[in-house]
Amino acid sequence: MQPDHSYTPMTPAEVGELRDTLDQQGKKLVFTNGCFDLLHAGHVRYLNQARALGDAMVVALNSDASVRELKGPTRPINRERDRAEVMAALRAVDAVVVFGDKRATALIEAIRPHVYAKGGDYTADSLNPEERAALDKVGAEIKILSLVAGRSTTKTIERMTATGDQPKHLRLGVLGSGEGSNLRAIVDAISHETLEAEIVIAISDQSDSRFLKLAKAEGIPTQHVQGGANPRRFDNAGQQAIAEHLQQAEVDVVVLIGFMRILKEPVLSLYADRLVNVHPSLLPKFKGANAVQMALDEGELETGCTVHLVTPEIDAGRILAQAKVPILVGDSAEILHQRIKQAEHKLLPQVLAEWKRI
Ligand code: GAR
Repeated sequence: MQPDHSYTPMTPAEVGELRDTLDQQGKKLVFTNGCFDLLHAGHVRYLNQARALGDAMVVALNSDASVRELKGPTRPINRERDRAEVMAALRAVDAVVVFGDKRATALIEAIRPHVYAKGGDYTADSLNPEERAALDKVGAEIKILSLVAGRSTTKTIERMTATGDQPKHLRLGVLGSGEGSNLRAIVDAISHETLEAEIVIAISDQSDSRFLKLAKAEGIPTQHVQGGANPRRFDNAGQQAIAEHLQQAEVDVVVLIGFMRILKEPVLSLYADRLVNVHPSLLPKFKGANAVQMALDEGELETGCTVHLVTPEIDAGRILAQAKVPILVGDSAEILHQRIKQAEHKLLPQVLAEWKRI
């Protein structure tokens, strides 16, 4: 028989002793509780924040029976023994107890934590009155921590049970030559789950661009394609190489973010209506590479950004979305461009998030 290495949860009395030892040393025990039946990054971040409120932390896990009662017959996903073992392995967690009641009242009274951490939309006043009374009785400090946006067990379960009928993640191919701030915005939107997509390839004509460095740092597959001598054009071999990289990566939508060379065939036909560009002006005004300076030179009071489809005529394809940006007294092209980019960082991920409705 294999030896059983699984974790044995502590008893409330043992955790009470731990609390007293810490107390004698002037240290604080943090207490938090929950089902934690499918651990995700949101939980881990929450637990790290909670642990930082004291010197040791105990997590009270709802037993299988109480999770079923709280969450319905399909939960818990993982059994209490496994949940306790996984929880105890986390760096933030010093002790795990399992409790069978719907409320943690009795446990709070037995453990007498110094700090009680709770995640979510609660306030100290909207906590369960019984638990609140127990916390007041033992003199625990109550700390409400915000939950991590976009991470939840329900969302994880939805993704795991998704069938082919449901919309799949958009596979994005991104092309850029410059700073990569719009790439950062897309990466962030994906990680906050406001954009259901995956960046499957990042291509640049500039091997040392921040765009390419950021892509590499984010673990996105990258390609550097030599463009030839003219900084605005791509020779035929370059156009062909880009098409091949995009096809090999099975890209659904190509996004040009500060890509300063002109794309031609075969990419335009291969990705007709699936090739978007972000441009720093309110098109059709100020097409081309100097759009920000042109708006200043014309004495405009406002400019903005445009997300549009790419066609053979430069900056002239169908406009998908625009956002206005005021021009302020004393603006330099650089300052104005930064303000425009802030608008781009919102607009571009929004357009991509709504892609299927376009
Ligand atoms: C963006 O402002 C984009 O609109 C512009 O390059 C910048 C790239 O910034 N594109 C063009 O001018 C295309 N004609 P980023 O590298 O920080 O995302």
